[in-house]
Amino acid sequence: MGADLFAHKAAGYEQEKRRIDVVTHIAEEIVDSVSLNQDMHLMDFGSGTGLLLERIATKVGKITAVDVSSAMNTQLEEKRSSLPCELELMPVDLAEIMPQVCFDGVISSMTLHHIENLPVVLSRLYTLTVDKGFLVLADLELEDGSFHDEPDGVFHHGFDRRKIVKLVTMAGFRDVKLNRIHAVPKNGREYPVFLLIARK
Ligand SMILES: C[S@@+](CC[C@H](N)C(=O)[O-])C[C@H]1O[C@@H](n2cnc3c(N)ncnc32)[C@H](O)[C@@H]1O
Repeated sequence: MGADLFAHKAAGYEQEKRRIDVVTHIAEEIVDSVSLNQDMHLMDFGSGTGLLLERIATKVGKITAVDVSSAMNTQLEEKRSSLPCELELMPVDLAEIMPQVCFDGVISSMTLHHIENLPVVLSRLYTLTVDKGFLVLADLELEDGSFHDEPDGVFHHGFDRRKIVKLVTMAGFRDVKLNRIHAVPKNGREYPVFLLIARK
């Protein structure tokens, strides 16, 4: 496992209002668009400090938080007792290690642009999802590289909408739908954010 790229960011991660705003929008869209219930076990891929999963936690029975950063996982661990659903932390790099479990659905926010080999990871997410389960991915649309102040670990400057739909389809998912749901204000401009929903 390489260096923890979020080690110096984890403690102050939730102090940026625009970060909270974007995840709040993503969570609201997920709750409005996907049918969730208390029998469900979800994976939050790239769960970070848990901003997304804590907004979904009242709707499902269990969430497995998959994240390679031990600093981010430490922040999430502190929230465990206040979460209304069961939480499992899986501190792995999904590009390297394949969990031996299946999920009713996968949610993920602002993580895809950190994944170098997307076809491999999307294919893993497909394998890890039960039949008819769902995939929800939220991330930046294509940008000019100015969004991140630090380029380490950023492998994509957002995503072309058609290309990400194609990659998800090639991984095996069907009924792929993508909508622009938000725009992050930064550097005096706005960076659009998409939400993609698909089915296995
Ligand atoms: C920008 S943060 C987003 C955190 C959270 N989803 C949110 O929206 O606030 C991206 C997270 O993805 C994690 N991550 C990046 N690549 C990963 C991989 N291959 N496997 C597991 N986690 C990964 C990072 O450690 C980081 O915590």
